[in-house]
Amino acid sequence: MLDRRQFMAVGTGVTGAIGLRNLLFAQLENAPATLPDVSLYDKNQDTYWAELRKQFLIPADEIYLNNGTVGSSPAPVLRAIFDAYNTTEKLNQQDPEDYPIWGYAAWNEFRDPLAAFVGGTRDEIALLRNATEANSYIANGVDMKAGDEVLMTDQEHPGGEQPWQLRAKRYGIVIKKVILPKPVQKAAQVLNLFNDAISPRTRVIFFSHITTATGVVLPAKELCALARSKGILSAVDGAHVPGMMRFNVHDIGCDLYSSSPHKWLQAPKGSGFLFVRDEVIDRLWNTIATEGWDEPKLRAERFQRIGSSNVPSLWGLRAAIQMANQIGMDRIEKRHRQLGDYILGEMQKRGAESWTSPDAALRCAIATVNVPPINRMDLENWLWKTHKIRIRGGDPSKLRLSTPYYLQKKDIDRFLEKFDEYRREKKIA
Ligand SMILES: Cc1ncc(COP(=O)(O)O)c(C=O)c1O
Repeated sequence: MLDRRQFMAVGTGVTGAIGLRNLLFAQLENAPATLPDVSLYDKNQDTYWAELRKQFLIPADEIYLNNGTVGSSPAPVLRAIFDAYNTTEKLNQQDPEDYPIWGYAAWNEFRDPLAAFVGGTRDEIALLRNATEANSYIANGVDMKAGDEVLMTDQEHPGGEQPWQLRAKRYGIVIKKVILPKPVQKAAQVLNLFNDAISPRTRVIFFSHITTATGVVLPAKELCALARSKGILSAVDGAHVPGMMRFNVHDIGCDLYSSSPHKWLQAPKGSGFLFVRDEVIDRLWNTIATEGWDEPKLRAERFQRIGSSNVPSLWGLRAAIQMANQIGMDRIEKRHRQLGDYILGEMQKRGAESWTSPDAALRCAIATVNVPPINRMDLENWLWKTHKIRIRGGDPSKLRLSTPYYLQKKDIDRFLEKFDEYRREKKIA
């Protein structure tokens, strides 16, 4: 039995939870019911983006410059998720055999809009939980013998590299890396590095379309063409790409493409995907096996059969795609580039060393700068704890600044002002 103190604690928790729930729903209700009309964009772009900002729960006085780690699902996405719970949790489907679990279904109502958005066909797409999972399916699923090589960059995320490290340790495949210059000056540099590192044992080229370390946009189409010309599989980690910039997996010509739309598409956490080019589907082994794993006619659906999972996240994913389409990916990408270029230019004016490519084609909404002797963690803590500005960096002095479309120019200016203040306070020239 609970004693009085425990009872009170539980009571406070429940009241707190109800309060929080009410707050969340009030915030969602306060968000404008519809997105601003694009005619407003034509009249005044700043007003248009300021209106869109109202769809996000991030408090108005918080400046979030780390969308590269995780995005923030806006009101239309959250509403879709709650609608999904409301619908599915009633368990009152018409067909007594129909259950709202997604581990055993085609879910074309979600795959179709995603396929239209990324450029593949429905049958080439498996709905998974994130890029790490999709990358693991790739690293586990490709036939390779001990001594066979996978070639990647030195800027891969652990969720891209470690699945291969596991395979190397367990089965003796070999990981080779090309070292990317910081910054990459032009696409040809990257192509030459890969070309020179290919050996007769290279079976897979694996690289981030946009790297987590510096945000460089690698020449994916050219790298995939290089791989294809040598009979090597191309696997692209596109965790950052959907929602940041326009792309099309067929146009890129990759064999495999993984992603985490919870970043730049602002989709729910736990709604990732794996694209497998039709000709490659039959060459990829399943990692998780349940009914249908050995059924070729399911095409890529067989990879999304993972047992019971979270349907409402897919409702949110679909809403995130709708929202991006409604705003227009061309407008979003343009905005990302403008904000990214602005913050980069301002940091360079302050003497920061740019690790972001000088070639506009090789950068988008992540600017990375090196600012020695500033200790990035000290700056990160100072900005967050005293000024509600959230950035991300790497030791010792790297700052990675993400500029999602919902950020306002005045937010960037406040960050810059506080960056200057920090330097003055710490007497850093
Ligand atoms: C390039 C890249 N790949 C994979 C991941 C892992 O993403 P997730 O944790 O959503 O699987 C990240 C996350 O930052 C990333 O930047």
